Amino acid sequence: MNNSAPIRYVDMAAQFAEQRDEIMARVEAVLAEGKLVGGPDIELLEQEIAGFCGVAHAVALNSGTDALALGMAALGIGEGDEVILPPNSFIASAAAVATIGAVPVFADVRDDLNIDPEKVEAALTPQTKAIMPVHLTGRIADMTPLEEIAKQHGLLVIEDASQSFGSRYQDRLAGSFGDVGCFSAHPLKNFNAAGDSGFLTTDDGELAEKVAKMRNHGLVGKGLSEAFGYVSRMDTLQAAILRYKLEVLSDVIERRRRNAALYRECLDPAHVFMAPERDMEFNTYHTFVIQVDRRDELKAHLAEHEIGSAIHYPLPIHLQPAAGYLGHKAGDFPVAEKQAGRILSLPIHQTLSHNDLRRVADAVNGFFG
Ligand SMILES: Cc1ncc(COP(=O)(O)O)c(C=O)c1O
Repeated sequence: MNNSAPIRYVDMAAQFAEQRDEIMARVEAVLAEGKLVGGPDIELLEQEIAGFCGVAHAVALNSGTDALALGMAALGIGEGDEVILPPNSFIASAAAVATIGAVPVFADVRDDLNIDPEKVEAALTPQTKAIMPVHLTGRIADMTPLEEIAKQHGLLVIEDASQSFGSRYQDRLAGSFGDVGCFSAHPLKNFNAAGDSGFLTTDDGELAEKVAKMRNHGLVGKGLSEAFGYVSRMDTLQAAILRYKLEVLSDVIERRRRNAALYRECLDPAHVFMAPERDMEFNTYHTFVIQVDRRDELKAHLAEHEIGSAIHYPLPIHLQPAAGYLGHKAGDFPVAEKQAGRILSLPIHQTLSHNDLRRVADAVNGFFG
């Protein structure tokens, strides 16, 4: 045991303490104005996000899950269409495919936890309609070969960029590769609202308009609906908070990258695998995932030292009860399954001190002796 303060895996209170004055001012402005649904903050946020990502349009939504589902539905993906995605994502990636009537088809991943383009090629069938690379951990999937496959086979590309707002690959930003880029602004993301939020990016103006209608009952004017839709709007309060979060995002990302660099310097590579960073990529470190033997013992050891950690994700999607109808079994995606037993997310959030990070690294190295 040690006598220092616990190190939390996430520390929302510390984050709020830093940002309190600005956040409260933005919240107060919205409440005082009284425009709580729609309004200028939504439109301005959309313009700012589109400008940031280098795309023509952004549509503010209630979640990353609905960004995926509405984006795919608006692109015409539906009943019986196959969408290829990795099995080691958050459940939402596959759920969005399934809930629009399409079929999630999994392709295994590489060492860096992102989808393997060769496995994508092997999973193609005449029913394949789209590829959904998930930019897991803040690292963009290997888009050059994936774009090549999509082009060759006439497939749509749906980026699940929920974990990677601001990440780059060959100087292109997450959300600017696919027919749609789908983002979550859940509180635990780097670019985070104070509750559920998400958005979609696209260069296609008609698509953006279609999704904007779908998020609001298909309404095109007062009391006039063009097509039955959903309530998938982003709250104005969240948009106002996110406009502030965009102002501080580069600082948040830099601090997380500094934390990652320190881990890379301190953790013992003889025992800890950290997927290397490639020159052409800029990782925003939504998570810092190590791969180790005796993962569960290490997690317990860290807990004994009052250090929080997490597992993203302990059970691959193809083995979840919800995916039972797809008929998969253990062994179908061996890389993802092996990783599920070895991955551990270390604390990486921006309010950690240099000392905190050293304590985590020392505890990990100490465990392996
Ligand atoms: C990879 C991935 N896809 C989709 C989602 C869903 O986003 P949300 O929780 O905003 O619906 C998340 C969020 O946790 C995610 O990490």
